[in-house]
Amino acid sequence: MQTKGKSVAQKHDEHHHINKPIAILGAGNMGSALLKGIINAKLTPPNKIIACDVNTEKLQTLSAEWKVRTTPDIRKAVQESEILLLCVKPQTLSKVLKVMKESIRPGHLVISIVAGMRISFIQQMLGTDLGIVRTMPNIAATVDEGAAAVAFGMSVTAEQQKIATSIFEAVGEVVVVTEDQLDAVTGLSGSGPAYIYMVIEALIDGGVKMGLSRDISTKLAIQTVLGSATLAKSSGLHPAILRDQVTTPGGTTINAIHELESHGLRSMLIDAVATATRRSEELSKLMNNL
Ligand SMILES: NC(=O)c1ccc[n+]([C@@H]2O[C@H](COP(=O)([O-])OP(=O)(O)OC[C@H]3O[C@@H](n4cnc5c(N)ncnc54)[C@H](OP(=O)(O)O)[C@@H]3O)[C@@H](O)[C@H]2O)c1
Repeated sequence: MQTKGKSVAQKHDEHHHINKPIAILGAGNMGSALLKGIINAKLTPPNKIIACDVNTEKLQTLSAEWKVRTTPDIRKAVQESEILLLCVKPQTLSKVLKVMKESIRPGHLVISIVAGMRISFIQQMLGTDLGIVRTMPNIAATVDEGAAAVAFGMSVTAEQQKIATSIFEAVGEVVVVTEDQLDAVTGLSGSGPAYIYMVIEALIDGGVKMGLSRDISTKLAIQTVLGSATLAKSSGLHPAILRDQVTTPGGTTINAIHELESHGLRSMLIDAVATATRRSEELSKLMNNL
């Protein structure tokens, strides 16, 4: 979202300042990434953030490093905050929602990153008419290069929409979708990092096959993916144009492209996104029927 060519610091300066107490329920990979993003973007001061987790060692580390408040008690976290970020695993969500219900207030904004769990499920479990936002971030949020989609429940106000969006903008790019599009988002950017790691791995092996050391191959493969993505983002040009620009007639690249086309690279990736989307739909149906 309008971040072309902007540094992380510039992006942070433009953020909507929330300045409200935020509880992060589940301070694992994603919960900690969001916590760091919120602090770095100065969305709310560290003393207004309360990290809640069953793992007290994790809480001690976060408190020492980021000066946030911590508690293993979900009720306390809910009572002392206005924004609740649900970052637990899907199989833990029902248990956490049951405890949250005891302290939830109508003004609370609930933002869930829990894969597959629908807004209607959360609404039903919490029993109050609340602003609920469902999102699908990805693992690159841990390095402020995430790709996240957000979907707003019926009762989410314009101000709450801004709050939810700025939390994910603090750790990368954000798009707004309808809830039924989140399965496709899961198939593309949620699972996408795994596809790209396979591409990187294969490029490394290609270099090694042709006699480069593994170290050199690894450095070149990673930087090639990073540089290509950065150029595509900063230029705003269609990837096909960028590809044409490096494809000399009769040269090396066109020969490689022919090879990739004859093995169906593009169809394979389209099928991968479609298959992952269907699996996300299936899992979501199973989980929400529990
Ligand atoms: N990782 C991704 O790429 C990704 C992408 C999109 C969406 N998501 C979603 O993000 C959510 C979190 O994923 P993650 O990778 O961050 O998982 P994670 O690292 O396992 O984090 C979950 C945290 O919640 C804690 N927890 C367990 N039970 C709890 C309870 N009753 N109260 C409070 N905290 C509790 C866990 O502690 P213990 O470890 O001690 O159990 C852990 O620290 C998942 O729902 C997933 O669907 C993840």
